[in-house]
Amino acid sequence: MILITGAAGYIGSQCALNFSINKYDDIVIFDNLSTGHIETVKKLQEINPKIQFIKGDLKNKEEISNVFNQYKIDAVIHFAALSQVGESVINPSLYYSNNVIGTINLLNSMVENNVLKIVFSSTAATYGEPEYIPIDENHPQNPINPYGNTKLIIEKVMDDFDKAYNLKSVRLRYFNVIGADEQTRVGEWHNPETHLVPNILKSVFKNDVKFKIFGDDYDTKDGTCIRDYVDVIDLCDAHLLALEYLKKYNKTDVFNLGTQEGQSVKEIFNISQDVTNQKIEYEIVEKRLGDPKILLANSLKARSVLNWQPKRTTFDSIKNAFEWEKSLNDKLKASN
Ligand code: UFG
Repeated sequence: MILITGAAGYIGSQCALNFSINKYDDIVIFDNLSTGHIETVKKLQEINPKIQFIKGDLKNKEEISNVFNQYKIDAVIHFAALSQVGESVINPSLYYSNNVIGTINLLNSMVENNVLKIVFSSTAATYGEPEYIPIDENHPQNPINPYGNTKLIIEKVMDDFDKAYNLKSVRLRYFNVIGADEQTRVGEWHNPETHLVPNILKSVFKNDVKFKIFGDDYDTKDGTCIRDYVDVIDLCDAHLLALEYLKKYNKTDVFNLGTQEGQSVKEIFNISQDVTNQKIEYEIVEKRLGDPKILLANSLKARSVLNWQPKRTTFDSIKNAFEWEKSLNDKLKASN
C-alpha cells in the first residue's frame, strides 16, 4: 500500500488519481484538510473505492504513527505542506512547524516501521535567485524565503536519515506547476489563490476582479517575469517513475521537473486569452517582492535517468485549467 500525504490538495490529488489509474491503486491518503478539500478526497474515492482516507496532522506524531500501525505501507509520496511564499515570510513559525516538524514526524514513523522509501515534493524555491540559467540540480541552494528554507532543510534531513537509517528519498524539485485533470475531476483549488494561471482564469468569471500583472519593467523580452510552466499530469507521471526508480535502484536522488522552456507572464496571459476565446482585462501593478526575473529548469537528468517526458503543451494545460475553473465556479455557486 502507498501512503500519499496531502492528497486533498492540488498536486497530491492529481497524483492519487494518476496512481489509481496506473498500477498503484492501493492507497491511503493522510491529510489535515487545512488547505485541501474533503470534496476532493470524496471524488478520488468515487473513482477508486480502494482509497482509504485518514484525516490527521503530521504535527501530531501519534496520528501519523497510527497510520503505519493500521496499514502495511510500502512507500510514501509526501506532498503535505504549506506552500505560499508570501505567507511564509509573514509567518515563518507556521512553516517550520508544519513543513519541517511535520516531515520529521513522518520520517520517524517510517523508520520505526521499516518503511524506507519516500518521494518528496521539493521546489525550485530551494535554489533562490538563480546564478545561472537553466538551473540544474547542482545549482547552489540559497533559498530567499522561509518556504524555500523549509524544503531545503527537509532535503538535508533526508540525507542524514539515509546515512543513519538507510531511508531512501527521491526529491522532485518542481518549477511552476499548472493545469488540471483532463476530465475536471480534480484541479487547483487554493484559498486565497496566488498563482498566475488560476488568477487569470478566475478574472474571466468575476467581473469585479481585474487580473494584475506584477511588474512589466523586468529585464526580459517583454518586461514581465519568465517561468518554466510544467503540466500537473506530466509532473505526476514523474512521481510514478520516481517510485519505480526507488524500487529498482533503492537510491537517494534528486530531479528537477520543468519543461526547459521559459514563458513570460504576458505570453501566458495571451495563451489564456486564446484558450478562453475572450479578451481579458488586466492592469500592470507594482512588482511582487522576491520574484526572480527568470526561473528556468534544466531537466535533462529526469529525462535521461527517469525517462520522463513532459508531453502537454501550455495551451493544453491552460485549457484543462479553464475547464476545471468553470466546473469549480459552478460548484461554488451551487453551494452558496
Ligand atoms: N503573477 C502575476 N499576477 C498574479 C500571479 C502571479 O503577474 O496574479 C506573476 C508572478 O509575479 C510571477 C509569475 O506570475 O512572475 C508566476 O507566479 P506564481 O505565483 O504563479 O508562481 P511563482 O513563480 O511565484 O511560484 C512558484 C510556486 C512556488 C515556488 C516557486 C519556485 O508556486 O511554490 O514557483 O520558484 F516556490
